[in-house]
Amino acid sequence: MLKKKKQEITVVPNHIAIIMDGNGRWAKARFLPRMAGHRAGTESLRKIIRACIDFEVRYLTIYAFSTENWKRPHDEVEGLMNIFGEYLDKEVPELNEQGVQIHHLGSKQELSPALQNKMQNAIDLTKDNNKLTFSIALNYGGQDEIVHAIREIVKEGIPADEINKETIKQHLYTSTIPDPDLVIRTSGEMRTSNFLIWQSAYSEWLFTKTLWPDFNKKALREAILEYGTRSRRFGGRTEDEQKEPYHG
Ligand code: FPP
Repeated sequence: MLKKKKQEITVVPNHIAIIMDGNGRWAKARFLPRMAGHRAGTESLRKIIRACIDFEVRYLTIYAFSTENWKRPHDEVEGLMNIFGEYLDKEVPELNEQGVQIHHLGSKQELSPALQNKMQNAIDLTKDNNKLTFSIALNYGGQDEIVHAIREIVKEGIPADEINKETIKQHLYTSTIPDPDLVIRTSGEMRTSNFLIWQSAYSEWLFTKTLWPDFNKKALREAILEYGTRSRRFGGRTEDEQKEPYHG
């Protein structure tokens, strides 16, 4: 029997951002506690970081915990915070060896001092790495980020008529990071949930029914292939279309 040839990846998004959704449903389907789903989600994340390095994606951003996630039951919030701390303890040395540079997006203040320290240590240790820039949105909300940016601009005394899109961009948590080319949301939900709302204005969005713990290198490969079929216009027209006469 003829084996189907694997489709080649021709276009790799420079920056992939992911809303990792579906851990709870993954656990429920297996009669497991929700925390088991979040732990399985951590394994998925480890695989996806490796896959991004293999595919030569340069920026990966994940939505780990939103400013709204504090409304979840206390036990789950505590469990998630423990997972994030353990993750940083366990994974950072290896991420550092792999050349991953870690960033935090969001407000640190509400995090426990221990978690703030772990995050800061991870950022300091990996700051010179350049294989993959990995940003963890933790206690992050896009609307809060814009409010934060405006407050900073006001504090700096920048005159109103000097404020433009670039000024806002420079005051977002992502000031040093390019906008995402592709945003993936797993689990079939079709919302943006306050994730990178400024930065994703012209991103390609991909919604997949796969639950986050089942999202693997093959799924990422398919997402990248799908991205390669999209024609990005940034509100204008593609190069080919520019050549055609405009009929309005
Ligand atoms: C959504 O599942 C996922 C989260 C709330 C984010 C937490 C993600 C992880 C623990 C993965 C690993 C990340 C790090 C940084 C170690 P959900 O609970 O909303 O799922 P549901 O919609 O099926 O209930």
